[in-house]
Amino acid sequence: MELLYRKIIQKELQQLEDKLSSSISSDINLATEVTQHVVNSGGKRIRPVICILVAKMLNYKGSELIKLASSIELLHTATLIHDDVVDQSSTRRGKESIHTKWDNSHSVLVGDFVYSKAFQLMASLDNQEIIRILADSTNRISEGEVLQLSLKKRKVLSKKDYFEIIDRKTAELFKASAITAGSLASCNENEFIALTNFAIALGNNFQIKDDLLDYFGDEELTGKKIGKDFEEGKFTLPLIIALPLMSEEHKFMILETLFDNKESDFKEIVKIIKDTGAVKKVEEICNQFSETCFKELESFPESDYKRALFDIVKNINTRVS
Ligand code: IPE
Ligand code: IPE
Ligand code: MG
Ligand code: MG
Repeated sequence: MELLYRKIIQKELQQLEDKLSSSISSDINLATEVTQHVVNSGGKRIRPVICILVAKMLNYKGSELIKLASSIELLHTATLIHDDVVDQSSTRRGKESIHTKWDNSHSVLVGDFVYSKAFQLMASLDNQEIIRILADSTNRISEGEVLQLSLKKRKVLSKKDYFEIIDRKTAELFKASAITAGSLASCNENEFIALTNFAIALGNNFQIKDDLLDYFGDEELTGKKIGKDFEEGKFTLPLIIALPLMSEEHKFMILETLFDNKESDFKEIVKIIKDTGAVKKVEEICNQFSETCFKELESFPESDYKRALFDIVKNINTRVS
């Protein structure tokens, strides 16, 4: 299904690609080459799309939007480069991840290069509030990744800890994408609150779906290796919900695999989780987040941009990549 935003912000999306390409060039050729490898491999660009749609929904007519949207995509890209080292993920966007094609040193250093490029772009906006929001978000995202690391393989993750992690590592940048756009468009306080709630719910939904796809997705479509979360000992929502619903024998086998690195057959794990009915329960939680998104958008005047945001929310639960 062709999403509405592709039609109505086609021009801005091309400007975004041009800005991304120009801003990652460096006279240190290696920095450009390695960054291009990930930036030019596609990626859904969902955060900049949200940023652009929100600003346009609020009637923003200025010239700073593409810079803002690009800096957000670069921030996201930097987190992915580092995240792939931490998660030992060998595939990203259907290609070898940086640490696999080169090595960890390249990921750490080029990740830093991309972060700093994002901040240079941000600083060029000359908007104190936006710089503050993005600096705070960058900090909370890193805290989310550290929190996840600190809880990994320690205990069965509670739902509360799971939501704390995804709120920081993922929903935070969705929030920043929407509220920086709101700030650029000089939105009022109520709009600011609605955008915050909308984007946090959307970000939660997005990460939960990513976690479902890590068990049940198709590698050809996600461009990432399936089963990585389980392999890395990460408890994500499908497993957290399935564990209390399965037999003691299955639970024992799964926890032994996660905590003691015992061998297991991932296909069997997927079947056990499926048979508990956990997927439906996870989807119900996603639907609640979608409802929040719809509700928070209601207060904004009708426009194609608002309809495109609705469209994105609808698509998030059924996405395959
Ligand atoms: C991946 O984000 C990291 C998560 C928060 C799940 P995306 O799924 O947006 O990755 P790209 O940018 O499309 O590759
Ligand atoms: C999101 O978590 C990572 C960041 C927000 C940086 P994941 O580890 O699930 O993302 P993928 O699956 O590697 O894209
Ligand atoms: Mg990862
Ligand atoms: Mg994932």
